[in-house]
Amino acid sequence: MQRIALVTGSYKGLGFAIAERLAKDEGMKVILSGRDLAKVQESAARMIKDDLSVDAIELDVDQQSSVESAIATLEQKYGHIDLLVNNAGVNPSYDPTEQSFLTVKTKTLGETINTNATAVLTMMQSVVPLMKKAGYGRIVNVSTEMASLRGIPTDYYPLALSYRVSKIALNGIVSLVAKELAGTDILINAYSPGWLKTDMGGPDAPFTAHEGAETAIYLATLPTGGPSGKFYAEMRKFGGPIELQW
Ligand SMILES: NC(=O)c1ccc[n+]([C@@H]2O[C@H](COP(=O)([O-])OP(=O)(O)OC[C@H]3O[C@@H](n4cnc5c(N)ncnc54)[C@H](OP(=O)(O)O)[C@@H]3O)[C@@H](O)[C@H]2O)c1
Repeated sequence: MQRIALVTGSYKGLGFAIAERLAKDEGMKVILSGRDLAKVQESAARMIKDDLSVDAIELDVDQQSSVESAIATLEQKYGHIDLLVNNAGVNPSYDPTEQSFLTVKTKTLGETINTNATAVLTMMQSVVPLMKKAGYGRIVNVSTEMASLRGIPTDYYPLALSYRVSKIALNGIVSLVAKELAGTDILINAYSPGWLKTDMGGPDAPFTAHEGAETAIYLATLPTGGPSGKFYAEMRKFGGPIELQW
């Protein structure tokens, strides 16, 4: 049976790179998704040209109705979703107000938490019931090393308050969901892809989106009994899966 993989925010950047590798290297049927269907379809067409198995769907993770309608459509079409990659994200860190808690806008903080954390919970509330029915699921969450609470006192990253707090919230959700799913074959983990040359990472980043996808593929294809509720660094840096501290 061909695995069905849904990747959020995947018409470009890291999401597209993860989708491409899942289809090319793992033979999965990948559902590209995003809030602008025309852009998603354009990216899907590029994959179809390469003979890859792909579908396109409109999905705004911030809108519960959009999430519910997309998942209902996919359930009707395929009957199962085996892999969910929560990749969609926003990062307001470049705004100078983000560099001090005295200036950060609470509205920005709320919106960032909405997309980077709350929406991930919404996605899982829609997708995990299908995984439970099938008795199988893998959930990969794109986080960042900047969200390691243990690392904050000594790391060299900018304050980036809204972004970091939103990903800390995401990490918390991953840990708690893993606890509730313990004993099932639904494995959920988070990882940090490193600094990547995408619209978010900018042109000075040292690594490509393709390189940043490596750990996602590892977590997407974990065997039964594999780890769950963990936070991983980018494998490229260490030559294998290395856990980060929450
Ligand atoms: N680049 C890095 O260096 C880096 C480092 C660590 C972690 N990450 C994480 O990697 C993930 C992907 O980022 P990227 O670097 O590939 O950035 P990107 O090129 O800016 O891609 C972000 C994607 O998320 C989508 N998105 C944002 N809000 C959405 C929503 N409400 N519904 C659906 N899609 C939405 C964007 O779509 P629109 O075009 O419609 O906004 C876009 O497709 C993010 O979670 C980010 O935090 C990136």
